[in-house]
Amino acid sequence: MSTTLTLETSTSRAHPVPEPVRRLTVPAIRARKRQGRTEPPIVMLTAYTARMAQLLDPHCDLLLVGDSLGQVIYGLDTTVKVTLEMMIAHGAAVVRGSWRAVVVVDLPFGTYEASPEQAFATAARVLRETGAAAVKLEGGERLAATVRFLVERGVPVMGHVGLTPQAINLLGGYGARGRDEAEARRILADARAVAEAGCFALVVEGVVEPLARAVTQAVDCPVIGIGASPACDGQVLVIDDMLGMFERTPRFVRRFDDLAARISAAAGAYADAVRARQFPGEAEVYRP
Ligand code: KIV
Repeated sequence: MSTTLTLETSTSRAHPVPEPVRRLTVPAIRARKRQGRTEPPIVMLTAYTARMAQLLDPHCDLLLVGDSLGQVIYGLDTTVKVTLEMMIAHGAAVVRGSWRAVVVVDLPFGTYEASPEQAFATAARVLRETGAAAVKLEGGERLAATVRFLVERGVPVMGHVGLTPQAINLLGGYGARGRDEAEARRILADARAVAEAGCFALVVEGVVEPLARAVTQAVDCPVIGIGASPACDGQVLVIDDMLGMFERTPRFVRRFDDLAARISAAAGAYADAVRARQFPGEAEVYRP
């Protein structure tokens, strides 16, 4: 007789998958846009941790492990300092915490721009080590050959045009793009180039409404906007922004909660209870 012993590793924090559910796929997201219309609109939020992924997954079509984690999680001043190791660690956590949404991981600055081969080596590592379904990269016409190279080799790519934060040192600020005609024309050409190269979806960030509308109408794949008006096929926000975790909220963000104030109040209540020797209470003590 053989006995199989299994180690009980689950804890209340490593919460289980609720039910067997089929994950959405990249082709399903791509197919959501038909004859220029996307119904229902695509819902994407950023996620960086397993627990947040568990909470967001039932509501989202896509979870983006954005390199915004550099600012949100690590307190960096720009995304330029984000490393591949950070993206892989958080990407794997989000995949573990989700069961339905398509998980997309940002390729960080300096890990894909040098050549299509460099981009493929990075993207392959990201997909292999995280289990994510796709990568996102910033850039337009100059990255189109790289997008095509990746897609032809089995790597689904989400594009990112308009305001591209990894280029902050060139741009000089995070203001909305496409206010002048020449820049608007460039961004539209960027969107067309990466869409035609095979992106299954595009993020368009921080652009004026007429340009967001033009980009959305110009490409066949879904366009997901952030600071890009309701004209897009879907929307994405940085999760900590929409939860009200920061004092400063950019114009395009709606705060769906005021979590910073609620966390501060909870921490204050805890501190008061400890100092008053009211915590732990009777119900919170192990007895022999
Ligand atoms: O890094 C990120 O969170 C992003 C979103 C702003 C789209 O790229």
